[in-house]
Amino acid sequence: MMTRTATAIAHPNIAFIKYWGNTNDALRLPANASLSMNLDGLQAETTLTWADDLSADTLVLNDAEQSGEPLQRVVRQLDIMRKRLGLTAHAQVVSKNNFPTGAGVASSAAAFAALTVAAAGASGQVLSEQELTTLARLGSGSASRSVPAGFVEWFAGDSHEASYAESFAQPSHWPLVDVIAVISDGHKRVGSTAGHKSAQTSIFQEARVADAAARFAACRRAVVERDFNTFAEVVERDSNLMHAVMMTSVPPLFYWEPQSLAVMSWVRDRRADGLSVCYTLDAGPNVHCLCLEKDAEAVRSGLVGMSGLKQVYMAAVGGPAHLV
Ligand code: DP6
Repeated sequence: MMTRTATAIAHPNIAFIKYWGNTNDALRLPANASLSMNLDGLQAETTLTWADDLSADTLVLNDAEQSGEPLQRVVRQLDIMRKRLGLTAHAQVVSKNNFPTGAGVASSAAAFAALTVAAAGASGQVLSEQELTTLARLGSGSASRSVPAGFVEWFAGDSHEASYAESFAQPSHWPLVDVIAVISDGHKRVGSTAGHKSAQTSIFQEARVADAAARFAACRRAVVERDFNTFAEVVERDSNLMHAVMMTSVPPLFYWEPQSLAVMSWVRDRRADGLSVCYTLDAGPNVHCLCLEKDAEAVRSGLVGMSGLKQVYMAAVGGPAHLV
């Protein structure tokens, strides 16, 4: 009997230029290239064991045995990894997040990055980082960006191999901090996978995608040159454009809560006061306040004083997914 175990840690990431909509849903080939940073301190830790004597794949997430769709999504990823690694064994997967699942802190990104790296690691085979990003992408698109370190770009690509992510700056390049205003820690009403499929039903998606390469280039340059003002303008515009698509899809998707708008408006006011801070929101109501490290404490204490927030998390720029 053969058993092999590995443990991997991966961080979630926050997109500066968003992934919303696919040109190929099955392969998760995105409609546009996206950019993100990993979130240090927040993590998924996944231990995977390939064992010949298991009769089925099993998944324990945050101490609870999973079944139904959460298990099936992991089984689909394990099927992909078995095929790539030439394995027939089933797997036992035990994973823990240190942040709430489905809270607008993309848990699927950290989860599928950690699962993919652990599955390869436990096989004893060494896959390139680039290939690991493409395999993680098949589980959750944004997971491709949680594999490399620091500031990451994910090229859209028109094939499985061409749609990969890579680091363009290390965590030490620019001391950005994501101060996350948690407005709801419940599950999303409509998840990203369903959302991507409805993106094309908004007449604004075509315009959002048509201009995405220009926003991507401006944002990438702003990060490389550490130009916060340009960064803030393009990051907020990109988030607003994605939410405009969401709100005008059929059926419409409204992720903003009244408290989200209150935080967005507070962020704009603080920037007018001279703080280096801007906002971005994923498929949920939580507001990610991206700021320079020197202003992170002022942003955090300001948010803690606002009513209606469940939690405030702080995350610096995180490293790559890795085996432990
Ligand atoms: C709004 O990667 O969660 O967070 O590929 O279906 O798992 P699936 O979707 P997912 O979508 C992320 C959407 C987003 C924007 C982003 O992170 O780029």
